[in-house]
Amino acid sequence: MPLVNAKEMLTKAKAGHYAVGQFNINNLEWTKAILLTAEELKSPVILGVSEGAGKYMCGYKTIVGMVNGMLEELGITVPVALHLDHGSYEGAKKCIEAGFSSIMFDGSHYPIEENFEKTKELVAICEEKGLSIEAEVGSIGGEEDGVIGMGECADPNECKMIADLGVTMLAAGIGNIHGVYPENWPGLSFETLDAIQEKTGAMPLVLHGGTGIPDDMIKKAISLGVSKINVNTECQLVFAEATRAYIEAGKDKQGKGFDPRKLLAPGTEAIKAKVKEKMEIFGSVGKA
Ligand code: 13P
Repeated sequence: MPLVNAKEMLTKAKAGHYAVGQFNINNLEWTKAILLTAEELKSPVILGVSEGAGKYMCGYKTIVGMVNGMLEELGITVPVALHLDHGSYEGAKKCIEAGFSSIMFDGSHYPIEENFEKTKELVAICEEKGLSIEAEVGSIGGEEDGVIGMGECADPNECKMIADLGVTMLAAGIGNIHGVYPENWPGLSFETLDAIQEKTGAMPLVLHGGTGIPDDMIKKAISLGVSKINVNTECQLVFAEATRAYIEAGKDKQGKGFDPRKLLAPGTEAIKAKVKEKMEIFGSVGKA
């Protein structure tokens, strides 16, 4: 199946009280691992690409070519969206041109009026070209690709203002943080989530910083309107751990262990297992 935008999968998730996972990709191995797992579990999936990962993988056109090629060569039948993660205004435009099926414009660091105007312009372009669009209100805490967010809780009225522009999905800060959560993290603010959901109604809400949020909090967030959950760091951690174990066991020195395909295989398998675990928690298995 060719790339799809994320609208239908998220509308179904919202109605069915589950969430679609966005798993960020960094290279060919990760992309293949995520696609094969989604296909095996008959789950819809969103491939996230940060601007940093976009540069690393030789630009958005290269990524579009790689993903489209894999969808065909691997015979992927489940719905897959290719989504820019935390895009700048310029980055969003580049991805639209390159053939992404979905973008996130993160205008949360602008004053709300500027976030509103820029989001509005991108909504019109995405509507015309058939892409889905995610907007953000109230920055997500932690650090991602050099962008530091303070982790404020979003203002529900501002969320409504941006949701009413016709975005497909809305990321709103509710105390979530990118990366590993600190020991003293107070948890998600369900009060804020509830208030946002009340103001934005049918709008699918997005939970960033999916790494390390306890399962019961994930389930509660889904019950309160979260329909998409982003995971990146957790895949990075298991990939690094599996690769390290392989090297520490001296397996890279056995036979043709230096073969990059063999060296990267344990990490790739670890990502498959992690994606499977997450899809089961999010409830998206069998929903393709
Ligand atoms: P984590 O890196 O915390 O999993 O967050 C991913 C994310 O929200 C990408 O936008």
